[in-house]
Amino acid sequence: MPHSQRGTFITFEGIDGSGKSTQARLLADHLRALGRDVVLTREPGGSPGAEEIRALVLQGDPDRWSAETEILLFTAARRDHLERTINPALAAGKIVICDRFADSTRMYQGLSRGDLRATVDQLHTLMIGREPDLTVLIDMDPDTGHARAKSRQTAEERFEDFGTELQARMRAGFLALAQEFPDRFRTINGAGAIDTVAAEVARTVTPNLSSFG
Ligand code: ADP
Ligand code: TYD
Repeated sequence: MPHSQRGTFITFEGIDGSGKSTQARLLADHLRALGRDVVLTREPGGSPGAEEIRALVLQGDPDRWSAETEILLFTAARRDHLERTINPALAAGKIVICDRFADSTRMYQGLSRGDLRATVDQLHTLMIGREPDLTVLIDMDPDTGHARAKSRQTAEERFEDFGTELQARMRAGFLALAQEFPDRFRTINGAGAIDTVAAEVARTVTPNLSSFG
């Protein structure tokens, strides 16, 4: 796997409630137990400035922002996260595990309200210019994912309030994205028990780790 730095950059993607946060945390625990230096982070957020943007994009009415404005906000948050958290950790040879990254913008802003994928990709090229070394897609049926996400009871429900129809389109979009970038995507069935999925994630990720990290 090509590296422009010493560390390894792993992202988790999938619809809301698919188990990304749970699995990202368990993978971090697993790799730390093996003695690896791991930074566990998330988007939107992962740096103080990006966490402030997180509150702007995830709370409030579903129509609070247009899709175009959201592309700018998520990309601004990502740029800060990259500069302050991700790049320094990779340069230091660490494994960075990130709960969502640019593929989420390609899906949620790129497909949810018209076809803005090209705009997302252009801004990504201009301002981010980096893809993960490995992306774990947790595939999950939208009704189960929605029920799991709703059971969490948080204020960050702007996207969950778009409903299961959106999640169904996001699921199909993520599976198509995995076909578009087969070198870095690995798709895992999220329907099993937490430990079963975690074992599958560990089996998938471990052979792809750099010898540094
Ligand atoms: P995401 O980050 O993809 O939204 P989470 O990891 O936060 O998903 O999981 C959503 C909810 O579902 C949490 O309450 C979590 O404990 C639960 N959960 C996660 N994975 C499973 C699983 N494999 N089986 C049952 N419940 C799960
Ligand atoms: P997250 O906290 O990962 O939610 P969940 O745990 O429910 O999956 O992300 C919150 C929401 O932000 C999620 O509905 C997807 C959305 N999102 C975007 O729309 N664009 C993006 O670029 C990112 C990173 C997230």
